[in-house]
Amino acid sequence: MPVKPLTILFAASEAAPFAKEGGLGDVVGGLPKYLARLGHAVRVVIPRYYSVNREKYNLRLLPGTLVVPMGIIGNQYCGVYEGRLPGCDVPIYFLEHEAYFGRPGLYQQDGQGYMDNDNRFVFLSKAALELCKMLDFTPDVVHAHDWHTGVIPLLLNTSYLHDRFVGDAASLLTLHNMQHQGAFYPGLMEVLGVGWKHFNYLELEKDDQVNLLKGGIYHATLLNTVSEGYAREIQTAEFGWGLEGVVGDRSNDLYGILNGVDYEEWNPQSDRFIAANYSARTVKKGKALCKRDLQSTMGLPLRDDVPLLGVVSRMVRQKGTDLLAEAIPRILEMDVQFVMVGNGEPWAHFYFGDIAAQYPDKFACFIGYDEALAHKVEAGADFFVMPSAFEPCGLNQMYSLAYGTPPIVRSTGGLEDSVENFDEAKLTGTGFKFWSHSATALYDTIGWAVYTYFNNPAGLAALRKNGMAQRFTWDAAALKYEELYKLAIKRRRGPEYFRNRFGE
Ligand code: ADP
Ligand code: GLC
Repeated sequence: MPVKPLTILFAASEAAPFAKEGGLGDVVGGLPKYLARLGHAVRVVIPRYYSVNREKYNLRLLPGTLVVPMGIIGNQYCGVYEGRLPGCDVPIYFLEHEAYFGRPGLYQQDGQGYMDNDNRFVFLSKAALELCKMLDFTPDVVHAHDWHTGVIPLLLNTSYLHDRFVGDAASLLTLHNMQHQGAFYPGLMEVLGVGWKHFNYLELEKDDQVNLLKGGIYHATLLNTVSEGYAREIQTAEFGWGLEGVVGDRSNDLYGILNGVDYEEWNPQSDRFIAANYSARTVKKGKALCKRDLQSTMGLPLRDDVPLLGVVSRMVRQKGTDLLAEAIPRILEMDVQFVMVGNGEPWAHFYFGDIAAQYPDKFACFIGYDEALAHKVEAGADFFVMPSAFEPCGLNQMYSLAYGTPPIVRSTGGLEDSVENFDEAKLTGTGFKFWSHSATALYDTIGWAVYTYFNNPAGLAALRKNGMAQRFTWDAAALKYEELYKLAIKRRRGPEYFRNRFGE
């Protein structure tokens, strides 16, 4: 237990299991539980999208209404539902605003981002701070995530600077993905209501647009990414998406903390979605049963003697879907089976649907989001494929290690940090890595894994064993976040913080 528990507000656009599109939801739904175990008072706030089921999660409507000043739009009002993160006592609050969040998608519909995402997430950012008043909660630190709540650090340093509840709060901004920055027309300044003087090249302005993430990077007390590798990468033009300079200016305040895995959810010994539970000792037999189950679920021939490759992923360029599209006809010339679960860009849905029709005995895909199937792929596949162009952390490769399913990854960001390349001589390593961002490199590396499957059973067994021995715990990550919070609080409360930091 720390000497003094901290009060921490998480503000984000997703939290598993309530509303999730990707790993951001896993992190916001997972990390608070482990911070609470360290003795801290954590609260989480996200929107109440239609997909957040009030009955299922037993949500309770709090008395009162939040009043959220939206600049030129005027005050907006919203109700607040309260629930608990599963398996712990951490309160989570859901902002009920019909016009902004009363729709099926989180960010988009049919591949088109909602037209009012600017107002929706500025609203979320402001409402999260207003919520503290309603709850009589004084956070030591507000933990914001990605562009959706990225403007919070700026709000804390400007319009909320003298607020009774959040005026002294430090801020930590976690960068899960630099590609999406929340860039909108300059008129958004009138909704933000912080004054046009903040629309300058250091703070909110980028390419004549308001860039919410940039404002957050400039203003956050401290910053972190979700792996050490990605913290280095985003300071380069290749991975910074135009913000590498802004990030580089803050490199002394930027840290990397690898995400953890919720081993209560992702554990082959207790996983309720898979055909047979298994441990490192029983992995061979257990995986064989799970493989059969996966083959039959996906309508592939039931074969024990063929390497089965699996993908679970958003189908976008970030995840290397384009590389896979290019390589897949050649990959399927080998004696393999391939299972793909995902959704994303429409071209990929058509393309891979077509591949499934052309190679019914070898390739099967499920276009959509399916939690149970994701678990079945982790357990039933022989190898897990992640050819990402960039990967801030990536969770699936860590899940696949836990399931004895060696990952085949392009070595970038969190993939570089969490997977060790196979060494055939020493029988060390946990997966197969390649560096070049090309379909050929992907094909060659899959070829290496397939060769290992057929010709090097001792190598395969070692890879499985080594992977299953890895542990990426939230306990370890939570301790690192605790240190960052403490440092951020110390900085923010230190003498002359604003003069030292901003020259004011
Ligand atoms: P990202 O957040 O960039 O999409 P991560 O690897 O961090 O990548 O996290 C992805 C998360 O979303 C994992 O928990 C993964 O299992 C899940 N996921 C992605 N696509 C699907 C899908 N189609 N069905 C089920 N789960 C999915
Ligand atoms: C982002 C990244 C992914 C990371 C996740 C959670 O979605 O793309 O690599 O694992 O955030 O931090």
